[in-house]
Amino acid sequence: MTPIRTEPTEPTTRPAFAVISGEQVQRTLQGREKQLVELIESTYRLHGTGDSVNPPSYFLRFPDRPASRIIALPASLGGQVRVDGLKWISSFPANVTAGIPRASAVLILNDHDTGYPFACLESSIISATRTAASAALAADWLSRGGLRPLRVGFFGTGLIARYIHTFLAGTGWSFDEIGVHDVSADSAAGFRCYLEQSGTAGRISVHDSAEELVRVSDLVVFATVAGEPHVGDLSWFAHNPLVLHVSLRDLAPEILLASANIVDDVEHCLQANTSPHLAEQFTGGRDFLTGTLDDVMSDRVTVPRDRPVVFSPFGLGVLDLAVGKWIYDEVERSGELQVVDNFFHELRRYGPADGSP
Ligand SMILES: NC(=O)c1ccc[n+]([C@@H]2O[C@H](COP(=O)([O-])OP(=O)(O)OC[C@H]3O[C@@H](n4cnc5c(N)ncnc54)[C@H](O)[C@@H]3O)[C@@H](O)[C@H]2O)c1
Repeated sequence: MTPIRTEPTEPTTRPAFAVISGEQVQRTLQGREKQLVELIESTYRLHGTGDSVNPPSYFLRFPDRPASRIIALPASLGGQVRVDGLKWISSFPANVTAGIPRASAVLILNDHDTGYPFACLESSIISATRTAASAALAADWLSRGGLRPLRVGFFGTGLIARYIHTFLAGTGWSFDEIGVHDVSADSAAGFRCYLEQSGTAGRISVHDSAEELVRVSDLVVFATVAGEPHVGDLSWFAHNPLVLHVSLRDLAPEILLASANIVDDVEHCLQANTSPHLAEQFTGGRDFLTGTLDDVMSDRVTVPRDRPVVFSPFGLGVLDLAVGKWIYDEVERSGELQVVDNFFHELRRYGPADGSP
């Protein structure tokens, strides 16, 4: 007797899987700074409504390579985007001396209804892009109601600093003065060269002294790879600058305790020995936090003007998802999606009906 089959003998749909290269990612993002900052703003707002899942990042560390790490950022976005996924990003600082970037990454997008992964995207560019777009968004919102900064200082001048400058310039910022400071003279010179070639207006100065850079800048961008605080003198911040503390571990708790502190997500930011995490350990509480960027954008929090304002963004997986899905849609629309044929192969639960392999 023929056994009764309760399932279709052929899959009703064959899930597809695409690979999107760094070249495609970069081409898609090129010149879209304003649109991407809007995308990041709407994603923060969506995250603020609770229509997202963003568990803690998982840090894979190595006893034999303490300076290196690989971080997993799983996330799920609701709203109209409806996508799940994972960014898997390595940070190997010694890469820079070997002539390749510190960070490398992939982003996997999973289908909202089936859970099937449907794309793998090169993601170091996506990560730098969402970080820079978030920094530009924060610079805009946190300087509203005050004087627009005209003197920017880049403290740490690697790839992230370059992306942040590109996003500031691409969203209408211009500066009279651009200051640069890095422990590596080569990095400072390379960044200066980038600034000159980008045709940016404003006087460019390389500062050997960290103190001098901070004192002459009313917008300070920290993008170093420091693992613990190395800036602790409050008098450097007496002019109440806006600080984009993107590298998260540069400032001593004393600086944060005398500042207004805006984060992207409280639970995320108060972990992994970030400066806000150290400030929490130091004080035993979270009173030093002023609010989240979403609180500011939604008028729940007013940014004080009588002290430094420090934005510490932990970097949320939902931002990578939003940018990754936006790229996927653009590449698909352009007809250039590179699908891997038969990536998912075992699609019949009990094998073929006729028993053939
Ligand atoms: N918060 C986020 O969402 C987010 C996202 C991406 C990257 N980041 C962080 O941004 C930082 C920069 O990343 P990158 O890819 O540009 O790294 P990079 O290695 O390309 O550049 C870092 C630069 O900082 C300099 N530096 C290190 N210590 C310094 C110090 N004490 N003072 C001055 N300069 C110093 C280095 O010489 C180097 O030029 C990293 O800490 C990374 O973790 C944060």
